[in-house]
Amino acid sequence: MQLESKKTNSEPVQRASASHVDEGHTPEKQSSRLPGFYELPITERQKVIQASAALSDQEREALSNFGVLKPELVDVFIENGVGVLSMPLGVATNFKINGRDVLVPMAVEETSVVAAASHGAKLVRAGGGFFAESTPPVMTGQIQLLLADLNCDVDVILNGRKNALLEFANRGQDRLVARGGGAIDLTWRLIPEIKSLVIHLHCDTRDAMGANIINTMCEKVSQLMPDLFPGCEVGLRILTNLNDRRLTSVSCTVPASVFTTRDYAGEYVVERIVKAYLFAKHDIYRATTNNKGVMNGIDPVLIATGNDWRAVEAGAHAYAARDGQYRPMVEWSMNEDGNLVGFAQMPMAVGVVGGVTKLHPTARTALRVMGDPDAQTLANIVTSVGVAQNLSALRALATEGIQRGHMSLHRHNLDLLRREGASRG
Ligand code: MEV
Repeated sequence: MQLESKKTNSEPVQRASASHVDEGHTPEKQSSRLPGFYELPITERQKVIQASAALSDQEREALSNFGVLKPELVDVFIENGVGVLSMPLGVATNFKINGRDVLVPMAVEETSVVAAASHGAKLVRAGGGFFAESTPPVMTGQIQLLLADLNCDVDVILNGRKNALLEFANRGQDRLVARGGGAIDLTWRLIPEIKSLVIHLHCDTRDAMGANIINTMCEKVSQLMPDLFPGCEVGLRILTNLNDRRLTSVSCTVPASVFTTRDYAGEYVVERIVKAYLFAKHDIYRATTNNKGVMNGIDPVLIATGNDWRAVEAGAHAYAARDGQYRPMVEWSMNEDGNLVGFAQMPMAVGVVGGVTKLHPTARTALRVMGDPDAQTLANIVTSVGVAQNLSALRALATEGIQRGHMSLHRHNLDLLRREGASRG
């Protein structure tokens, strides 16, 4: 087997100037201690990293293209910012959701994801499109109390103070309450193994994703707990990403005829897709890959709109395991007419106000492309894209396999790489 040849010094790589790099300095020797780094202007941070990692000027410039983001905005978003990572932004077509056509921006680096979403949406469109609904946007936060006395009458204590606690949680949230949101419920349970009472605070965060709102409320309400439970130790106060009161459901029916090709009968393809779903339902290895495919659709829309995709990922996977076994996120069955029926339900905590969603020019424009949806409508769109993506993957896997379509798109990448390599000599 031939090993890839190692880079040599004769390669035409411009090294950082001597003022930045000691002779013989290699990234392996670099120190990660950079006191005061966070206080430097971005351009200075770039120089520090250039010197520390022995980057060429060309490589440093790869950090310096801020695109539509101003360096000041990078500093607002994160700490120790040095640049912006550009990522392809595409627009998926063919989506019809609750009778309305919608173009869906997707930010993703993986070949064939946008094409697959558009293809899945086209198949679903033939059956009338996606039907989606979202519960009110209720976020849940947890307050953990380590109780001194596990035998105290928790239900009596909390039922007696529930309304007062909710009213206290809503203090200072006038704008949210005026928009119809705010804390709406308290629930609780004991975990005797860790001597803990866990109180769940439920809050309608309207068009916000709501992490900050719910975390603020939990910290505030927890202040009252030592009075209610003398001797208790206040433990964690933080939202849960398993937002099982903030669910989005999507269904669709796809006529078998749309799957008919020269090589396959439509009903056969429907049967094969259902079998593929059942494989994932009964096998965690397959379920994991299947669900990665669902998130292939969901994450790019979240990224394009500046939403917290890690939060949605965490919630989606936990919800998929809610009966104790990790299951596929989308269910597929055949109806009595031989058509394919799809259904998905998952937590979908997305926002259209606040944070990156409003400050990032591209995220803002992505929302405009979708018709400026409210949070629930965005949740409907995001989840529908996950369903489309899964359908497209299963259709390919259940018939000719994934590689044919994938490789024909991937070939363009390989050609490009080859051309770039040739032009570099
Ligand atoms: C690849 O990114 C995603 C798939 O593996 C999903 C699946 O297997 O269902 C094709």
